[in-house]
Amino acid sequence: MLLKGALTSISLAIAAVTSVIAVPIRQNLARRQNEGGNSTDLTNGLTDLVSWDTYTVKVQGERLFLFSGEFHYYRLPSPGLWLDILQKFKALDYNGVSFYFFWGYHSPKKGVYDFEGIRDVQKAFDAAAEVGLHVITRAGPYINSELDCGGFPSWLMDMHSPARKYNPENNANTEEWLTAIDKYMAANQITEGGPVIMNQLDNEFSFNTDPHYMEHLKQKFLDDGMVVPTIFNDVGTNGNFARGEGAPDIYGWDRYPAGFDCSNPLAWPNNRSTDWRDYHERTNDEQPMAVYEFQGGAFDPWGGPGYPECYKMVNEQYAKVYYKNNYAQGIRIQNLYMTYGGTSWGGIPKPTVYTSYDYGAAITEPGLMTTKAYENKLQATFLHTVKPFLTTERFEPESDNSDIILIDGLADVNTPTKFYVAQHWLSKSEDLDEFHIKIETTDGNFEIPRSSKLVLNGRDAKILTTDFDFNSQHLVYSTSEIFTHQDMGSHDVIVVYAYEEEDGEFAIKVNGDDTQVEADDSVTSETADGILQLTYKHPSGTTPVYISGGTEKDLLVLIAGYRSALRWWATPINKDTRVLIHGPYLVRTASVSESSIAFTGDIDETTAIQVVLPDDITSMTWNGEQVQLEQGEHGIWTGTLEFTEPDIQYTDLQEATWKYSPGSPEADPEFDDSEWVTADHLSTNSTTPHDTWPILYADDYGFHTGVLWFRGTFNGSSEITGFNLTAHSGDASAWVAWLNGEYLGGFDIENNANHAFTDLNGTLIDAEGENVISLLLWTTGHEDDFNADDDYKQARGFTQAELLGVSNQTIWSIDWKVQGNLGGEDLADPVRGPYNEGGLYGERNGWHLPGFPDNEWEDASIPESNSRTGVSWYRTSFEVNIPDGYDAPLSLRYIDDSKTRYRTILYVNGWNMGRYANDLGPQTQYYLPKGIVNTQGENTLAIAVIAIDEAAQLGQVILEPYDVLQSAIPPVELVESPGYDARQQ
Ligand SMILES: *[C@@H]1O[C@H](CO)[C@@H](O)[C@H](O)[C@H]1NC(C)=O
Ligand SMILES: *[C@@H]1O[C@H](CO)[C@@H](O)[C@H](O)[C@H]1NC(C)=O
Repeated sequence: MLLKGALTSISLAIAAVTSVIAVPIRQNLARRQNEGGNSTDLTNGLTDLVSWDTYTVKVQGERLFLFSGEFHYYRLPSPGLWLDILQKFKALDYNGVSFYFFWGYHSPKKGVYDFEGIRDVQKAFDAAAEVGLHVITRAGPYINSELDCGGFPSWLMDMHSPARKYNPENNANTEEWLTAIDKYMAANQITEGGPVIMNQLDNEFSFNTDPHYMEHLKQKFLDDGMVVPTIFNDVGTNGNFARGEGAPDIYGWDRYPAGFDCSNPLAWPNNRSTDWRDYHERTNDEQPMAVYEFQGGAFDPWGGPGYPECYKMVNEQYAKVYYKNNYAQGIRIQNLYMTYGGTSWGGIPKPTVYTSYDYGAAITEPGLMTTKAYENKLQATFLHTVKPFLTTERFEPESDNSDIILIDGLADVNTPTKFYVAQHWLSKSEDLDEFHIKIETTDGNFEIPRSSKLVLNGRDAKILTTDFDFNSQHLVYSTSEIFTHQDMGSHDVIVVYAYEEEDGEFAIKVNGDDTQVEADDSVTSETADGILQLTYKHPSGTTPVYISGGTEKDLLVLIAGYRSALRWWATPINKDTRVLIHGPYLVRTASVSESSIAFTGDIDETTAIQVVLPDDITSMTWNGEQVQLEQGEHGIWTGTLEFTEPDIQYTDLQEATWKYSPGSPEADPEFDDSEWVTADHLSTNSTTPHDTWPILYADDYGFHTGVLWFRGTFNGSSEITGFNLTAHSGDASAWVAWLNGEYLGGFDIENNANHAFTDLNGTLIDAEGENVISLLLWTTGHEDDFNADDDYKQARGFTQAELLGVSNQTIWSIDWKVQGNLGGEDLADPVRGPYNEGGLYGERNGWHLPGFPDNEWEDASIPESNSRTGVSWYRTSFEVNIPDGYDAPLSLRYIDDSKTRYRTILYVNGWNMGRYANDLGPQTQYYLPKGIVNTQGENTLAIAVIAIDEAAQLGQVILEPYDVLQSAIPPVELVESPGYDARQQ
C-alpha cells in the first residue's frame, strides 16, 4: 500500500524511467499465437507446477485468471475468523489471496520470534488451503501496509545501517526474519501440497533502490527452499526491477487511480491508464501482466471523512470501470488491495491511519457483504468461466461513437471468440451515451445492436462477447454481459445482465425453423439466417427464456437486471460444475451427495430463492435444514429460506456498574520513578535531529508503543524562568505537561510540537529545591519507509528540553527518566504481543486485564458527570449472548461531542481494540471480533481516558451489533490470553 504524498513524484518519474528501459524485441504475434509455450526456466531451481507465458499464470498446467484479494491476518486477531473471511473470498469467486507477513508482529526483540496463538500463520495457510485459494506470500522484509515502521520491528530502529539495502548489518537482520518466516512459507508451497504459488520480493521498492539487496533476498528465499516464482510490486509502471539484476520471475505493479482523499468521493480522475499494454510489451512481454495491488478501497487518516466515504469513492461503479479497464489492458493477475481490510488494533498502525482499516473494501471490517463484493463476483465468475478471455490479443474495433466511448477489442488467439470492452473515455462521465460496434464473426459481420440500443449510462463499463462456443451452444453475440454458463445435463444455462431498463440483444446459432422460445411478453425473438435473436429490456428481476428445438441441447437464458444479477451465485460443486442459486446474502459452499445438494451460507432476512441444478439433483438443504423446493418451469426450482429472529442479548452499558480510578500518579512530584530507565544517551541512530541532551527518544531505551512518560528533575534557582520543550511524534499525537504536579497544558503535535513555558519563577518553580517536569506523550506509531530512506527511524519523544533564563546553561540541565510498556522489548504479555499495551500506569499494573481486582475503586457511571484530570480508568463487565447459527458482529460506539480534547484506549478482555480521539475522529465505532469478545458469556471492559485538556468527561459508550445474520459462520474459539493473575507471577 502506498503513501499519499508520493503520488505526484511517481507520475513525474514515469516519463523519465520508461524512456531508459532497454526495449526488448517488439512481440512477435506468431510466437504469441502459439500459446501454451511454457516459459518457465527449469534450470533456475523453481518448480514447474507454476508456469506462465505472456497471457497468464498456469497452476499445475491449468491456465487461470488469478483473481486475488489482500487479507492481513494481523488485522483480525481471532484466528477462528480467518476461515470465515476466506470462505467469503471463495464465495465471491476469488481464486487467490495475498498475505503480507508483518515482521514486527512476530518479533518484539532482536532474536525473538513468535508464531503462536494469533500469530500462528499456519492457521492462515490452512484456512486458504481448506477453501481452495491460491496464496501469494509477501514477507517483505519491508511491506508498508500502513503499519508501524511499515512492518519492520521497532527494534530495527536502533540499527545503524540503512534498511532495504545490501550491507552486513541489514543482511543479518533480514536473514533473521526470513529464516523464521520462510519455514512456514516454504512448507506451504504447492510443491508440498500447500496453497502458495508465488512469493514477493520486498514491496513497492521504487526509490533509493538497491539491486544487490534484491538479489540477496532472492538467494535467501531459494536457500530456504522457496521454489515458487518470485514477484515484485513496482510503484506503478516505473520499470523498477522489471529486468536485470534484482528482477523477479513475474514483474508487476500497483495502482490506486482514485487516490486516498475520500473527502470528495465522486471526484474521480479524468483518465485511467491506457498505456499498460505497450509498457508490458516493452518490459516483460514473456510474463503475464500483473497488478499485485490494485485499488480496492482507500485508507483514511485521523480526522478524515470516514470509511463510508471511501466506499463511495471506490464503489461498485469504480469496480466496473477500473477493473474492466485492467482486463482491457491485458491484466490477468489482479490482487485487490484491500478485499478485507480489518482492524489496525492496538499499536499496529502507522500514524497516518486510525484503528479501523475497513478501507471501504468489498468485505467490511465486521465481515459484511457490500454491493462491490457482489460486483467483484460478477466479474470473477465471468473471468473463470468464459475461458477464451484468458488468451487474447488486442485489436481495434470500429464503432460509431469513438470520441466518447473507448472500446478495446480483445481477440482470443485459439478460437474466433472476441471481446469488446466498452467504457467512457472520460472515466468519471455521468452521461448516458449510445453506441454501436461493428463485429466480425464466423456467422457474419454485423453492427450491434441490430435492432435496439447499446448504452453506457454513467459510470459503467461492459465486456461484450461474440462468437463464443459454450457448452453445446454457439453465441453469436450478446449486448448483455455474461455472468456465467453451465451444462446442467438435459440443458445448458447462461446468465446475462445489464442495468434495469437497458435494451439487450442476445443471439445464438440455431438449426432449422422449429426453434421454440418460451418467454414472457417482455422478450421478443426472431430467427433469420440461422441466428435466433432475443430482444428485451433488462428487467428488475431475472427473466427466464427457454430455447428448445433448434440447438443440440435446450438452453435456458436467464436475463437479469443488475440488482438481481448481484444476488446470483454460481457455486462450484466440483471442478467442472457450478450450480446456480439466486437470492441469499451469502452462499459459502455447495456439495452434492446422491440426489441432494447441501448449501451453506448466510441470510439477513427471509429470502425467496431460485435454484438451477443439474438434472439428477432433486432436493436441497440450507445449513443442514431441508428446504421445500418446488420445480417451476424450465428447470428453475423455487423455495424460501426462513429467517428466524434470534434472541440476541448484550448488556446495556448505561445500566452497568462501572468502577473508576485516577491513573496518572506520574504527574505527582513525589512519585517514585527510581525503577524507570535513566535517559542518558548522547547519540542516536534515529533520523530525527535533536537540539539538546540527553537523547529523549523512547525507542532508544527500548519502549516502542503507545503512551510514553518522561520525567525530568532540575534544581531550582532564581535565574530559571521556565523551560522550552519540543515533542516529536506522528500525526494525531499529543502531549501533556505537568510541573510539580500542576497541569501546564496539553498540546496536539500538529499545531504545538514546541511550547515554551515561561514566567514560572516565583509561581510554580521552586527556586530553592527540586522541581519535577512530568510529560505524557500519546503516540500513534512510527513512520513507514516508503522511500527507502530510513524514515521509519523518526523518533518518538522530545528533540528539545531546555531551561529558560539560565545565562550559562550546560547542555545537560535536566535529569531525565523514561518509561513505556512493562518490560520494554521483554514483553510482560507476549500473547497479546508487542503492540497491545503502552506505558500508562494502569497498563503497567494490569488494570486492563480480566481478573484485576477493582473492588476498591470508586463507583462510577458512564457518561461521566465529573470532570477528571489527567488519566482516568473505567472498568466494567458485560454479558453477550449470540445464539449458535447466527453472526451478529459486535461493536462498541462512543457518543460525545468533540469539544473536549481527550483520547481513549479501549480494552476488551485485555485486548487493545482501539484508539479513540474525541477531538479528531472520525472513528467512533470499534469492531470487537468474536473470539476476542466472548459472544456467549462474560467480558471485561476497561477504558483509559487521557485528557489533553486539563479535565475531561467520558461521554456515552454503547454496545451495538452491525447486523444480524442467520449464518453458517464456522465455529470460533475464544482466543486464549492471560488474565491479571498471570501477570502477578
Ligand atoms: C546504533 O547502531 C549500532 C549498530 O546497530 C549499535 O551498536 C548502537 O548501539 C546503536 N546506538 C544507539 C544509541 O542505539
Ligand atoms: C523555544 O524553542 C524554539 C525552537 O525550538 C524557539 O523557536 C523559541 O523561540 C524558544 N522559545 C523561547 C521562549 O526561548
